[in-house]
Amino acid sequence: MTIAPDQNEEMRSNLDLIGRTDTVDYEAIFSLVGVEEADGIHEVDNNCKTAFTWDYQKGARPALDKLYEKSKKAQWNGQTDLPWATDVDVEKLATDAYNEDQAGFFNADLSGTVVEKWGQKEWIQFGMENQRWSLSQFMHGEQGALICTAKIVETVPWIDAKYYAAQQVADEARHVEVFSKYLNEKLDGHYQMNGHLGLLLDDIINDSNWDMTYLGMQVMVEGLALAAFGFTHQMTKEPLLKQLLRYVMADEARHVAFGILSLQEYYAGLSAAELRTRQEFAFEAAVRMNDRLASQEVWERMGVPQKDAIKLLTQATDRKDFQVLLFSKIVPNCKKLGLLDAGDGWLRKKFTDLGAIAFEDWQDTTLDEDALADSSPMERGLI
Ligand SMILES: [Fe+2]
Ligand SMILES: [Fe+2]
Repeated sequence: MTIAPDQNEEMRSNLDLIGRTDTVDYEAIFSLVGVEEADGIHEVDNNCKTAFTWDYQKGARPALDKLYEKSKKAQWNGQTDLPWATDVDVEKLATDAYNEDQAGFFNADLSGTVVEKWGQKEWIQFGMENQRWSLSQFMHGEQGALICTAKIVETVPWIDAKYYAAQQVADEARHVEVFSKYLNEKLDGHYQMNGHLGLLLDDIINDSNWDMTYLGMQVMVEGLALAAFGFTHQMTKEPLLKQLLRYVMADEARHVAFGILSLQEYYAGLSAAELRTRQEFAFEAAVRMNDRLASQEVWERMGVPQKDAIKLLTQATDRKDFQVLLFSKIVPNCKKLGLLDAGDGWLRKKFTDLGAIAFEDWQDTTLDEDALADSSPMERGLI
């Protein structure tokens, strides 16, 4: 992942960057399925230098200091502030979703696939598996955020950023905790991490530049998560999950804002070649996150052969339109960082290819009301 600045003038193709020519190549996407290690531990080399700073002046970076102070007041308790006694009827929820065709495949040509013979029972099972898979990816992503923010505490050279990142570590611990509790107590346990999400998290942790942790995690992964939580929060009729997501979103907006506020300063001092490396990293991250949306682990669990799943996915245009919306936070934030148009506008072209450029003028996350709030979700009466 890390590329020496003197190589930056070379034009790197999609093949160099993502290992294939087409950004959407389902055969390549399905060739990677997530697997949990037998001993239950996944180890990654962390190549960044740990930085002490002797400049202890609090508030030297006022925007970060303000965010830190807000964060102290916005804490909540995952064990006691959510209505865990809520009875969650997963099958009923999946049946309602089935009746509204939330899988988005009813108009697809199912002929010749194993899905052709599916009745209501299989579709409802598919819906339940998808829900469990999605929330599992949220949980694994939260653990990635927990690890990455702890890494930022170590590697960022500014005291205000170390203070804020330490607050975020506590937020992320709470997020892992509540998703894990929900999966264990209300659903049937968790799915393994999606292979593409795993690859992206490993790349972020592996990188030797401290700002890449910010770009990969705070801007790209958390930006997508913020949009995904927002849509799931809107769609779900399950009151416990709705509240859980609303509380998590209140924290996530602050996290993305932290990324933007930190990187704006740092990117202002980078050369065009160094910025190009960041643009390429953002593109790779976007493709990896798009790849994970094929949810190949669910198809495998449901016994659907790869070719059948691909036949369905290539037809599901509503689903694709919806997936593009997940980039609605990332694109304006990359624009705010100057990454869209740096150099010859390379990233603008890439986001255009991914169908996501239309979001460029949507509100960036530093202006999000959750990022600006300085009280807890309870005090704000969020449900
Ligand atoms: Fe989080
Ligand atoms: Fe976060």
